[in-house]
Amino acid sequence: ITAMALVCVEDFEKKAAGQLEKNALDYYRSGAGEQFTLGLNREAFRRLRLRPRCLRDVSRLDISCHIFGEQMKWPLGIAPTAMQKMAHPEGEVANARAAGKAGSIFILSTLSTTSLEDLATGAPDTIKWFQLYIYKDRTITEKLVRRAEKANFKALVLTIDAPIFGHRRADVRNNFSLPSHLTLANFQGVKATGVGNAAMGASGINAYVSSQFDPTITWKDIAWLKGITHLPIVVKGVLTAEDAVLAQEFGCAGLIVSNHGARQIDTVPASIEALPEIVEAVGENLVVMLDGGIMQGNDIFKALALGAKTVFVGRPAVWGLAYNGQKGVEEMLSVLRKDFEITMALIGCQTLGDITSAMVAHESQYAK
Ligand code: FNR
Repeated sequence: ITAMALVCVEDFEKKAAGQLEKNALDYYRSGAGEQFTLGLNREAFRRLRLRPRCLRDVSRLDISCHIFGEQMKWPLGIAPTAMQKMAHPEGEVANARAAGKAGSIFILSTLSTTSLEDLATGAPDTIKWFQLYIYKDRTITEKLVRRAEKANFKALVLTIDAPIFGHRRADVRNNFSLPSHLTLANFQGVKATGVGNAAMGASGINAYVSSQFDPTITWKDIAWLKGITHLPIVVKGVLTAEDAVLAQEFGCAGLIVSNHGARQIDTVPASIEALPEIVEAVGENLVVMLDGGIMQGNDIFKALALGAKTVFVGRPAVWGLAYNGQKGVEEMLSVLRKDFEITMALIGCQTLGDITSAMVAHESQYAK
């Protein structure tokens, strides 16, 4: 019997699910609360219909693009997800190498199981951004910024939707802990080991976050961050036009429309639902990007048609990693890229510049 080809992200998820322990699988998979928004992140894409244009010579496609002056082979990057060595022993390095091969940006989480420096050495040819959480001890954050600059990361992604962590029921039920052979590799002491050995009835990651992250942060802290670095600052977790306008006022270079993979607060909109008001408010001035629920080529297309400059995937890369390390992520990205190329061709777009908002319509327009 020959092995069956994996043809979509769901196939990678199934493979990963067969390979991961419950503690890790539930951590990677979960959303907050009833997980309404987790489903909505997919459902909202399905409520958008494509309006293809025909007879437009699609024999040659060019889907490359630039973000902050960096060349991407296509408009998809890897979102920051914490603790990737739970998925595969090579963790973040394997994921970042696969991203580099695919011409995608890789965003490293503050809560990684590989240090900034090891990631930079392990994946030198990948465009890397660093995702920042602000610790109560500001010197910690400042050191992370210095290290990111030194290790050639090209942007800082400040996650603004996580002053505390959301209530992910499975993690509480499982007493989620980072396995004891792993640490948060950017840190020493309790800041490195603090996600292990959770107390009964608690999620180790939530306990860590509430003891270490600074929940007092406000927009003024963006000014502080800007004052200590020349790297472009991207805020991640914007879901309203109001916050998008603040991101612009405080001098951010870009933003990621995101609900953190539906892991923070349930019943917020899907990212694709929040995108239009944000593009309308700041799309001319900021680089607007999106993550959440991207699983196939036409999802990428819809986000671009509604004004995103690039999209990111979180879980799909974790599934590829768990399935087969670097090769698994490469394979997942290749499946996704081919699917996006098919979408581009069948909608009649040769380049990303050919994509227009008229190529996507909400299902309600067809219900009349
Ligand atoms: C995340 N996300 C996240 N975001 C962040 O800013 N820092 C982090 O450390 C993490 N960690 C993390 C772990 C896991 C397991 C998941 C699933 C997500 C959120 C992530 O960057 C992104 O917003 C979502 O994953 C995007 O949704 P999809 O692609 O997973 O549907």
